[in-house]
Amino acid sequence: TTYNVGYLIGSLAKHSINRQLAQALFKLAPRELKFHEIPYKDLPLYSYDYDESYPEVATAFKKAIEGSDAVLFVTPEYNRSIPGGLKNAIDWASRPWGTNSFANIPSGVIGTSPGAIGTAVAQQQLRSVLGFLNSPQMNAPEAYIQFKPGMISESGEINDPATAEFLGNYLSEFHQFIARVLTVLPRNA
Ligand code: FNR
Repeated sequence: TTYNVGYLIGSLAKHSINRQLAQALFKLAPRELKFHEIPYKDLPLYSYDYDESYPEVATAFKKAIEGSDAVLFVTPEYNRSIPGGLKNAIDWASRPWGTNSFANIPSGVIGTSPGAIGTAVAQQQLRSVLGFLNSPQMNAPEAYIQFKPGMISESGEINDPATAEFLGNYLSEFHQFIARVLTVLPRNA
């Protein structure tokens, strides 16, 4: 069985280290996982004034989440939290009330930062939001990746074998987690 995993990059920066991590990560994935990006940068800032008539861009965003077997967040830490753009996107997907797109969608969280705690605080905050939105989350393993110069090669591969093995294992566990969740919460049931 293959699983269609939508991913959200928490950074909008052109040279985002989290986007670089995501690209390197996908090369290490079990072949059952098919990744596609769920973009969100064109969403306006959310307000419930939109609830009566969601813009097309927001409806498409919600559908992309609901149509995924699982979602993976690859996010930086900004000021000890998740970036505002990502939170805005999550808020869009959670509404209008009663149509929360994340409900029952399995999720995983990973991120990288040059700092030693490697996005740990942002990830905990994101986990709190995903818990409220009733997304079954992979609790373990966790992945706090300290970004070091040269960690990712010019060609976009993880240079350090131990890091590559860690990330490969993370994805293998994510694959098994998705399979387990979908056994009890089948999609399109
Ligand atoms: C940061 N950075 C940062 N790093 C961290 O480990 N904890 C933090 O709280 C913050 N706060 C923070 C706020 C803002 C507004 C910026 C722009 C940056 C540094 C951050 O980890 C670094 O810029 C990374 O390159 C961000 O990842 P992306 O955006 O390149 O994927």
